Amino acid sequence: MATPGIRPLVAGNWKMNGSLAMTDTLIRALRAKQSDIQLPVDILVCPPFPYLSTAASLMSGSNLQLGAQDCHASPNGAHTGDVAAGMLREIGCHSVILGHSERRTDHDESSAEIASKAKAAAAAGLTPIICVGETKHQRDTGEALKIVEKQIIESFSIDFNAEKTVIAYEPVWAIGTGLVPMKQDIEAMHRHIRELLKHRFTDGAGIKILYGGSVKPSNALEIMSIAEVNGALVGGASLKVEDFWAIIEGCAKSTI
Ligand code: PGA
Repeated sequence: MATPGIRPLVAGNWKMNGSLAMTDTLIRALRAKQSDIQLPVDILVCPPFPYLSTAASLMSGSNLQLGAQDCHASPNGAHTGDVAAGMLREIGCHSVILGHSERRTDHDESSAEIASKAKAAAAAGLTPIICVGETKHQRDTGEALKIVEKQIIESFSIDFNAEKTVIAYEPVWAIGTGLVPMKQDIEAMHRHIRELLKHRFTDGAGIKILYGGSVKPSNALEIMSIAEVNGALVGGASLKVEDFWAIIEGCAKSTI
């Protein structure tokens, strides 16, 4: 088991993909699988904003959890095009992904901004999933641990409740590329993050640390079995129910 006492989480990040029809098909299929086979894994689905309400209705009464891919740091106001954490909570979201490397790059999001969003998410009752990860250059120059440590310290400044906080370690160079770090590098990073969390936060021992970046059915069990890996943040493979479910099963097997 990756960390005794921590229930793993597999989260599907659809990014800017999908349609109403796909939302309907995928959520119904996941719901049917989950009611047939109860696995010791939390399952979270994060569709784009326009599909969240539909997904919430389709999940109603099931154990599936709903998440968004971003929120604003303010509770309301003149922020055209943005969405507040309270709005996401109101329509049934459980979690929100924050600081994904695509947002850090496409929208120039700083760690300080992510820290404000995480604070707003927690205040609204959402679980922030805070993403961190090094670039290929930073990995090659031996800076990965230092960079991720800095991102965590800066993106995550208040003492969150461990039950309601998740860190996702996603090496930027592994996202959507089919490349995955060596097993010992994932383990070294996750152990480093755990020590940092324990040192900085009262509940640091209980915070989930997900791995993300090219997780697929063929590598899920191996990655999920690594010490201190408490689940996965899945992009591309979360768009196909068979693949996503196979990853969830791999994660469940890692707990045995
Ligand atoms: P990927 O994306 O699984 O397609 O590599 C992961 C992510 O960006 O969360």
